[in-house]
Amino acid sequence: MIEKYQFDNFLKIGLFLILITTSFLAAAHTKKVNKTGILLVSFGSSYPETRASFQHIEEEVKAAFPNQEIHWAFTSKIIRKKLRSRGEIIDSPAEALAKMGEEGFSNVAVQSLHVIPGEEYENLKKTVEAFSGMPKGIDHVKLGKPLLYHQKDIENLGDVLLQNLPKGMHKGDVVVFMGHGTHHPANVYYSGMQYYLWQKNPNVFLATVEGYPELNQVIEKLETRKVNKVYLLPFMTIAGDHARNDMAGAGEDSWKSELEAKDYKVEAVLSGMADQNEVVHIWIEHLKEILLELKAK
Ligand code: CO
Repeated sequence: MIEKYQFDNFLKIGLFLILITTSFLAAAHTKKVNKTGILLVSFGSSYPETRASFQHIEEEVKAAFPNQEIHWAFTSKIIRKKLRSRGEIIDSPAEALAKMGEEGFSNVAVQSLHVIPGEEYENLKKTVEAFSGMPKGIDHVKLGKPLLYHQKDIENLGDVLLQNLPKGMHKGDVVVFMGHGTHHPANVYYSGMQYYLWQKNPNVFLATVEGYPELNQVIEKLETRKVNKVYLLPFMTIAGDHARNDMAGAGEDSWKSELEAKDYKVEAVLSGMADQNEVVHIWIEHLKEILLELKAK
């Protein structure tokens, strides 16, 4: 009966092992550690040249909040698909929040890296709301405001942009910023920003690709004065597809080509607003607000 005896013991040991592993896993799963994480959300870009800008944002955020783990999500499905075909996996906001819930984050501060509170921001807000208080998920999720939200943001961003105008600018040179523009009511932020910029510097213009004001309206203004050179700069988080094609591209529809066809000397600067530390700090201030609210939970 020795064999039977050994078998019984194996069975007991086996059962014991299963029991402790499952109880350990269950504990790990349900144990609520008060863990707070940051999720940075951008529209995204498939241009490898934009990676340095995203990295710059991450470095600044890390320096401001060294104890928080930073995760990323891109909202654009087309861009995520394109990146996936190259082996670069970037989550959607919903995927990232689901994973962070599984990883045991109890609080998540989601920071929008959008410029205006338009459609993209509103969609993100819906996703964030859907994840708040989800059973067995994250306890508290908060969404940080985009670059422009309050009047003070317009003033802060305007001042930063005016301080960082192209180095080689001479008298008679003008700057034309390219904003995205939208059919969403938040398109008024572009006119609000233009007004603020003009109050401080009448040589700085802002137009949009898909909204109001348009480039033609800027050209009408330029034609009333003597212009030496036009600097084109993205009024966008990163210098992605719009900046590289619609703004600075060689095609005849690009802003550069359109202005050159009117005999203006043009220099396009392929650097998104996120390349400026002071701009990233506006987003960081918005992130700080929600992290404080989460700490209060
Ligand atoms: Co676009």
